[in-house]
Amino acid sequence: MKTYLVTGGAGFIGSNFVLMQRQAGSARIVNLDLLTYAGNLLNLKSLEGDPEHIFVRGDIGDRKLVRDILEKYRPDAVINFAAESHVDRSIDGPEDFIQTNVVGTFHLLEEVRRYWSGLSDTQKGNFRFLHVSTDEVYGSLGPEDPAFCEETPYAPNSPYSASKAASDHLVRAYHHTYGIPTLITNCSNNYGPRQFPEKLIPLVILNAIEGKRLPIYGDGLNVRDWLYVEDHCEALQIVLERGKLGETYNIGGRCEKANLDLVKTICTLLDEMVPESPGCPHSTLITFVKDRPGHDRRYAIDCSKVERELGWRPRESLETGLRKTIQWYLDNPEWVESVKSGEYREWIARQYEEREERMV
Ligand code: NAD
Ligand code: DAU
Repeated sequence: MKTYLVTGGAGFIGSNFVLMQRQAGSARIVNLDLLTYAGNLLNLKSLEGDPEHIFVRGDIGDRKLVRDILEKYRPDAVINFAAESHVDRSIDGPEDFIQTNVVGTFHLLEEVRRYWSGLSDTQKGNFRFLHVSTDEVYGSLGPEDPAFCEETPYAPNSPYSASKAASDHLVRAYHHTYGIPTLITNCSNNYGPRQFPEKLIPLVILNAIEGKRLPIYGDGLNVRDWLYVEDHCEALQIVLERGKLGETYNIGGRCEKANLDLVKTICTLLDEMVPESPGCPHSTLITFVKDRPGHDRRYAIDCSKVERELGWRPRESLETGLRKTIQWYLDNPEWVESVKSGEYREWIARQYEEREERMV
């Protein structure tokens, strides 16, 4: 069985990836996660007692720790999910984003280079470093612009996307300069179980169930492309197995939606699935609030390369994916309570009280 070092595997996408790997029995997982506010061991609860899942709390920027892990577990691949991931937090305070996404990725790459250099030629050829990135590095599209493809020039607009762009460039350079067998994926907006409710979809689901207002930034016409998290994780596995070294793959759901339409769709599903909730009909909770500074207008992903070359296709439609997601939040009140810690309450208060004062 292969061994993967997964970084950020207690967060949203990383934990879904780890759970899918362990359910399939496809790889031993060493999971390195700092457990920031976004990391949650409850995400990995079903793996308690699994000897093939080894959790290590720590920072990807801790060179000694990363070196020890690489030497001890000798992974066949590193899959780097670890990051600060929320755009609004990067606007509020960019430093952690530079520290983890840029400096942390650099230190991780340096230790991987050291480890990889000591492998045999065969092991070197088989090793993979998969860097999980975002479509936000390509900037913002107008309504008629073609979707982002792998050749679209980088034009990041937020401290978050700029930090991810920087990390992508480092990964690319480590392939080009040192020959490290790297792969980069740039994916659109994910949703699904275990997503921290600072992000639009879980925030709307949980607020709506409690009869709280559903904050829509600006005019609500910003467009995102939505992909169910398990579809993303399947794509990552396929890229890991069959992706061409040094290449980038765009991953998306071919599912563009304006935020307002998306939130209305969630409200309609909630009206049907939770008719007894105090906010019913839930669309009455929709509230327009002050816009995000520098808010990218539209993202759209052309994922024809991964479809054509690697045969990947998403399985879920937006409706089936949203139903599964809503059901998961309804079925996991313990998880919901655990994330609504003091830190979360403070964040929501700071973000949305300030926005409310300047409601449009
Ligand atoms: P997340 O915020 O839910 O999880 C990030 C995880 O990384 C957390 O468990 C956190 O504890 C951990 N972490 C943070 N700093 C760390 C450090 N210095 N060392 C070790 N661990 C650290 O993020 P997510 O939504 O699961 O995103 C995962 C990756 O996928 C990120 O790189 C993100 O940029 C990328 N991505 C996310 C989306 C999306 O829609 N969520 C879409 C495309 C790409
Ligand atoms: O495109 C991929 C990116 O998607 C990932 O790289 C990021 O890690 C991830 O956070 C996500 O970024 P977004 O900024 O697109 O996601 P978010 O859920 O924060 O917002 C989605 C859209 O909804 C965006 O246009 C802002 C808007 N929004 C968001 C919040 C939290 C609102 O209108 N109201 C809100 O309260």
